[in-house]
Amino acid sequence: MSAVPPSFYDEIGGHDAFVRLVDAFYRGVAGDDVLRPMYPEEDLGPAKERLTGFLEQYWGGPTTYSEQRGHPRLRMRHAPFHVNPDARDRWLAHMRVAVDELHLSPLHEATLWDYLERAAQAMVNTFEPTGIGPSSEGRDAASGPSLSVTAVPPAD
Ligand code: HEM
Repeated sequence: MSAVPPSFYDEIGGHDAFVRLVDAFYRGVAGDDVLRPMYPEEDLGPAKERLTGFLEQYWGGPTTYSEQRGHPRLRMRHAPFHVNPDARDRWLAHMRVAVDELHLSPLHEATLWDYLERAAQAMVNTFEPTGIGPSSEGRDAASGPSLSVTAVPPAD
């Protein structure tokens, strides 16, 4: 019998750990003046499930996310939102609190945090300040004149 090495998902505590991570993260988002208005739904529950499912799948857990949502194509899925460096920093600040609450080993913590920082950077799609541009209110915002000078093509 060949031993399969445990996945990062299993090592940090499986589903329970990812649920705790994302719950804590969304507590931060719920009180964030810049991020909260970006989320199209009144109830953050479905967004929580999507992020939990994605992260679980990425780290070697169940593949439910792709079964339900298809290929992640995260940069493309973030294109309707105004993800500038301020939004990235806020997103990361809420994740920082959430990661700290998991009390991981230093190696697990560094592995997870390194990934989150790189992924958040990759999601930045504008350098315009918050409130400028047609997508500043998210997916359903009415269109207005764009002051965009930074055309960033989707990565995938
Ligand atoms: C950098 C700042 C970021 C902002 C402001 C942001 C904002 C958003 C918003 C407003 C949504 C729509 C809510 C929903 O429909 O689920 C969303 C979806 C999502 N985000 Fe982000 N996000 C950021 C970074 C990230 C990163 C780094 C990841 C992954 C590590 C990520 C993973 C996801 C996933 C998986 C979804 C759901 C995609 C789907 O299946 O439709 N986001 N994000």
